[in-house]
Amino acid sequence: MKLPPISYHDYLKIDQLLGCQVLRSEQVKLPAHDEHLFIIVHQCYELWFKQIIKEIDSAIKIMNSERINENDMGLIVSRFERIKQIQKVMDMQIDVLETMTPMDFLEFRDLLLPASGFQSFQFKLFENKMGLRAEDRIVYNNVRYTEHFEDKSSQTLKESETQPSLFSVVEKWLERTPFLQDASFDFWSSYKQAVEKMFVLETEMIKENPLLNEEAKARNYKIMEESQKIFAGLFSESEFNLGKKQGHWRLSHKAILAALFIHLYRDMPILHLPYRLLSTLKDIDENLTYWRYRHALMAQRMLGTKVGTGGSSGSKYLKDSTEKHKIFQDFFQLTTFFIPRSKLPELPNDLTIKLDFYYKG
Ligand code: HEM
Repeated sequence: MKLPPISYHDYLKIDQLLGCQVLRSEQVKLPAHDEHLFIIVHQCYELWFKQIIKEIDSAIKIMNSERINENDMGLIVSRFERIKQIQKVMDMQIDVLETMTPMDFLEFRDLLLPASGFQSFQFKLFENKMGLRAEDRIVYNNVRYTEHFEDKSSQTLKESETQPSLFSVVEKWLERTPFLQDASFDFWSSYKQAVEKMFVLETEMIKENPLLNEEAKARNYKIMEESQKIFAGLFSESEFNLGKKQGHWRLSHKAILAALFIHLYRDMPILHLPYRLLSTLKDIDENLTYWRYRHALMAQRMLGTKVGTGGSSGSKYLKDSTEKHKIFQDFFQLTTFFIPRSKLPELPNDLTIKLDFYYKG
């Protein structure tokens, strides 16, 4: 099909776009200059949310299959990289909005009641598609978050809770990781041995350290015992699952082991992209936490201790959700179990070949 030529103006629907800023303060004949900025910034956010959701959907679609084509791994990572860059812009938009002073905001704030950012459907969808579970959300105004939306949006949000999320497809993908166990190598038992060796060496180092007196040595032994206990919590699947029930972990034991393997051996060529995938996901989660925190500070700066227009405890709700609404927290905890490269179990030759870019000329 041949399309007729089109102008910039028609292609981007500039008339519609520029007609979307309707100032409430002008409607009541008390024009507040900064309300225009307030609307523009929010509308830009909504557009960026739309783009992020598109990127996440495409990554979920590719990953939600029994086998991911190796060629698609780079594509997923580039989609995640794009989300990271958008998040940078989202963060800078807070700087732009903060050029509005609290007094300027007060000029029109009361005219917005009871509208609130909490009613951003796309933001909640973004969180659900990332993998935030309904039970992990801080309850806002004593009702389930979906109750704050009209029927159709509420239904879509509920459905998105049961559909594959980035978290669930990444977990399944990790569980399928090959190389962890074959005839010549068992990652888990080799890693356990390496950790035990590391602790023996550390005990020796404390014992032989001439700078430590008996009291300092006892203190260091105790710290080491604590970290041995933490490792034991990972080594035993039943203990791990107990920790999972108590909310210390969210991923399955199998997925955690695979993520650990990928991080520890990320220098192996075949593991570069899987490592970058996990690492960019961590960046996205961290950027989201950072945005939540900056948004909470902005709310506090603008409102002090006033309640939000949506009726929540304002900046307190936002600060609490910063901690509670993290999604890929497991990847951050995993760092506890890293051991230095020099202490890593050596991989057998046949596995090293499999993990390398192996060119047969
Ligand atoms: C003057 C600037 C702003 C203030 C004072 C402010 C204040 C608040 C407050 C107090 C809440 C908690 C819910 C409530 O009680 O209303 C909230 C939620 C929210 N706001 Fe803002 N906000 C501002 C700007 C923005 C901007 C520019 C966005 C971009 C879209 C935004 C997005 C959100 C979102 C998504 C939530 C829900 C967060 C969650 O549930 O975790 N806000 N805001």
